[in-house]
Amino acid sequence: MKYPKTIISFFSIFIVILFSSFAFTNPAIANVTTDIYQQRPNHHPDGIGKFYLGREIAQVMGHTGAGWLERQSREVEEQPSKIVAALGLKPNDIVADIGAGTGYLSFLIAPHLSQGKVLAVDIQPEMLEIIGYFKEEKKINNVETILATETSPNLPAESINLAIMVDAYHEFAYPHEVMVEIVKALKPGGRVAFVEYRGENPLIMI
Ligand SMILES: C[S@@+](CC[C@H](N)C(=O)[O-])C[C@H]1O[C@@H](n2cnc3c(N)ncnc32)[C@H](O)[C@@H]1O
Repeated sequence: MKYPKTIISFFSIFIVILFSSFAFTNPAIANVTTDIYQQRPNHHPDGIGKFYLGREIAQVMGHTGAGWLERQSREVEEQPSKIVAALGLKPNDIVADIGAGTGYLSFLIAPHLSQGKVLAVDIQPEMLEIIGYFKEEKKINNVETILATETSPNLPAESINLAIMVDAYHEFAYPHEVMVEIVKALKPGGRVAFVEYRGENPLIMI
């Protein structure tokens, strides 16, 4: 069936207006910068085929892998106590553990913040539930959970002294947008700490 041109163009304009109003009212779309990412058909099986600054973004580690984050050998393999010591924490610091997973690092950091707290941030509600369970079990009260989106850690502006990402940044589907939000969340003089393991261990594929 043939439609008159005026109807088709009216329909196209309607679609454009509808989409742009959706994009402007939906923060998840409005804040996304697409031209800095490239989608490539040939990619690593552990990646999502999306590249940022020449690096392929890894698949998110699902909550069913929570046991691996809590493995006994972790202290020997990754020396998390050295990470905490290197942070130079102050007792009243507010620390955001972004991509907190089961809160392995959050619970190591929290006892150093006698007047401060850890904001354990993750996109998987199941991970935050596990953190809630550990909070009760370990009787640690200064860890709070925050549900993030792929584009934002959902932290208030100028609210944190330190953002730490341990073994997490490589999974962020929108690393640029997340970093912009982290910078907004830092208090003046705030710091960002990245911990990734591939530099030390070439067997790590991510
Ligand atoms: C490999 S786990 C590491 C967990 C924890 N940092 C640790 O070292 O035990 C990575 C975590 O990052 C989370 N994640 C992935 N993308 C995220 C994003 N955009 N914002 C917040 N968390 C994210 C995943 O859900 C997962 O729990």
